[in-house]
This record gives sequence, structure tokens and C-alpha cells, in this order.
Amino acid sequence: MDILNIYNPIKMHFGRGVINEAGNIAKKYADSVLIVTGKSSMQKSGTLDKLLKILKNAGIDSTVFDKITPNPTTDDIDAGADIAREKGVGLIIGLGGGSPLDSAKAIAVTAKGNIPVWNYLKTAAIEALPVITIVSTSGTGSEVNKYSVMTNPKTGEKPGFGYECMYPKEAIIDPEIMVSMPPHVTAATGFDIFVHTLEAFTGKMKNIFSSAYCMQAFCLLEDNFVRAYREPQDLDARSDMALASALAGLAIDMSGVGIMHALEHPMSGNYPNIAHGAGLAGLAIESMKYNLKACRRDFMLIAHHLGIKRMKRSEDEYAYSLIEKTEEMLASINLNIRLKDLGVEKDKLPKIAKEAFTTMGFAVQNNPVTVNEQDALMLLEASY
Ligand code: NZQ
Ligand code: MN
Repeated sequence: MDILNIYNPIKMHFGRGVINEAGNIAKKYADSVLIVTGKSSMQKSGTLDKLLKILKNAGIDSTVFDKITPNPTTDDIDAGADIAREKGVGLIIGLGGGSPLDSAKAIAVTAKGNIPVWNYLKTAAIEALPVITIVSTSGTGSEVNKYSVMTNPKTGEKPGFGYECMYPKEAIIDPEIMVSMPPHVTAATGFDIFVHTLEAFTGKMKNIFSSAYCMQAFCLLEDNFVRAYREPQDLDARSDMALASALAGLAIDMSGVGIMHALEHPMSGNYPNIAHGAGLAGLAIESMKYNLKACRRDFMLIAHHLGIKRMKRSEDEYAYSLIEKTEEMLASINLNIRLKDLGVEKDKLPKIAKEAFTTMGFAVQNNPVTVNEQDALMLLEASY
């Protein structure tokens, strides 16, 4: 048996209404907090006000930093860290989708040091303020992992980073917060879960624990993804999607992602209007075809977990049925798209291919089939 180190220190609280425990949970860490959130969704749904009340009732003093955009920038993270330092808060609460949660972790690190967040790509962080995540999308898995993804607005580069001190202390995963997601957000974020499971299950760093998480996540996705897309208020579907997101988030924490993520980050880095999951949707089919030769057994196993019957198909045909199933899934959530539909300009493809290696090299390395820059460009062109 190969040496295997498994570690995840996060306390996770799942279920309808668990946001009501936020006061008691936060109180364990500090009596003054910075809430990091986006510009509008948590205000509109009333979740931010609800959280403020819960914290106030627990005697906690809150400051709100609501400047985080989708695909968050280093400028906003550094500004958030300045506020955390000025206010002397003892805890950061991330409230929202992956963008505010990633920013909360990055702010927690930056507030402890005297360098801009970008420098942490080279300088390892050894301490951070404690973080609690309260997640509002089912997608990135950021609620339960150590990663933070940030965009340099000057260059368009969008790397991820993650140190042990960046694990959230506790995660509050309440499906009632997710029902306000409109269908296009459910579609993009839900497809992100699918790609996490696919890439963690087939990557070079796969292990028995991440694979177990992925298999359960595939079953949950099969039963609930399209349902949550069609019926936003369906709390059972929302609950199961929240579980799938966490399972997949734990899986990528251990086993990483692959070529789809390596190519997507520079896409939404250079085009911040692209939702991460929509970018993945544009890249998935060609990337799966590229990886098929190394993933026949894994693709068959996934096909099985997604409920596809083998019938009289050969192994090759059964493995390929996963690609057909993915196309069907994308059609049912209205995300059967090409890169040009996302507004990517063709002459930017070489820059995107290059940045996959300079900013997401670890994901390229983890891909089951070797990829060089020429292959990456070919994949982008085929997806255009
Ligand atoms: O910005 P606000 O006003 O909050 O609105 C958001 C945003 O417009 C809205 N939204 C979120 N929850 C909602 C809601 N609207 C109504 N009801 C709700 N309950 O949805 C839009 C997208 O939000 P965002 O947080 O950007 O989406 P997502 O959760 O997909 O996060 C994407 C970011 O996470 C990174 C991505 O690269 C991207 O920057 N990732 C982080 C990962 C990690 N930490 O492990 C892994 C992923 O692969 C990914 O790279
Ligand atoms: Mn992702």
C-alpha cells in the first residue's frame, strides 16, 4: 500500500436552519467578527440580516465587508484584510458562494501578515485568523477545503492557493440559504460539483477516500441536480446538492483537479464575467474525450453511479456513454455551450493555454493524460 496521509480538521454542520447556531459557534472564537460577502444576493434573500441578528443576540460585534465580486480580485481581498486589521476582529465569517468564501480565507491569512495577498503564492502562510464558512451555493466545495482562488485584475491571472492554516474552523451548510439561487446559478455551480468529482476520481492523486466521496456525490448529483435546477424551492434536492458539494470539496482537497480547471481559471481570470461552472461546461466534453484513453475503467464506474445501464455495450462504448450523459446533463441545464458563446476571443486562446501552466500547473500535473501547451491550445480550439 502506498503511503497515504488524510487530514481535514473542519467541523461541519449540515441541515435546515443550522444558520441559527452561528452565534454559539462564532462565540467560541471571538466577540468581534468581519463578515465577508458579495454585493447583493445575501442582502436580497435576507440571509445577511438574519446572520447579523443571530450574532448580535450572541453578543458579537459584526462589521460587514460586502465588496466581493464573482471571481474575486486581489485588490478586494487586500482591502478586506486592511479592514480586518483596523477593526482588530478575531474571526472572519465568509457568507455566500465560493467567491466570498475564498476571499474570507485569503483575508484571514493576509490580515495576519504585512504583505499583499498575491505574495502568498510564493511565501507560505503559517497563521491565519479563524474562519467560519456559511455557504450559499452548492458548487465549489470551498466551504470545506483549504483553497482560495483569486484574480490579479492587472494581468488576468487566476491561481489558487491553500495552506493548512486556511482550513475553515467550522462550516455551516444550511440548504435554506440555497433556495434563492436562480436556475442559471444552480446550473453553473452544480456543474462545478460534477467536474470536481470527475477530476478527483480520475486524477493522478486519486485515493480510496476521495473516490468514496466522489461515488456518493455522483449518486446525489444524478438524483438531484436537474431537480434543483427545475424546482429551486425543492429543499430535499437543495439539501442533497449541498451534501454533494461538500463531498466533492473534500475530494478535491485530497486529490486535486485536472485539465478542465487548469484551463477554466485563466478563462474566467481574463473574462471575469464568465461564471466558473459555465466555463467548465464549455470545456468539459473535449477534455473528457482527451482523457478517455486513460480513464476507461473510471468512466465506466462513474457511468454506473450515474445510473446508465450497460446493456450490450462494449467497454469502450460504455466508457463513452459517460460523455454522452454529460452532454445530456448540460442540455437539461441549458449549458450546452462553446467558448465563443461565453465571449472568449479566439486570439486570447494562446494566452489562456499558457496561463494554465503558469498559474494552474499542479492541476495540469494531476491530469490522467499528459498535457503540453500545444495540447492545451488544441483543446481550447476544439471547444471554441
Ligand atoms: O455576488 P453575490 O451578490 O453574492 O451573488 C452571487 C453571484 O452573482 C450569486 N449567488 C450566490 N449565492 C446565491 C446567489 N444568488 C442567489 N441566491 C444565492 N443563494 O451567484 C453568483 C455567483 O457566486 P459565486 O460565489 O461567484 O459562485 P461560486 O460559488 O461558483 O464561486 C466561484 C468562485 O470559486 C472559485 C471559482 O474559481 C470562482 O472564483 N473556486 C473555488 C474553489 C475552492 N475554493 O475550492 C474550487 C473551484 O473549482 C473554484 O475554482
Ligand atoms: Mn471548480
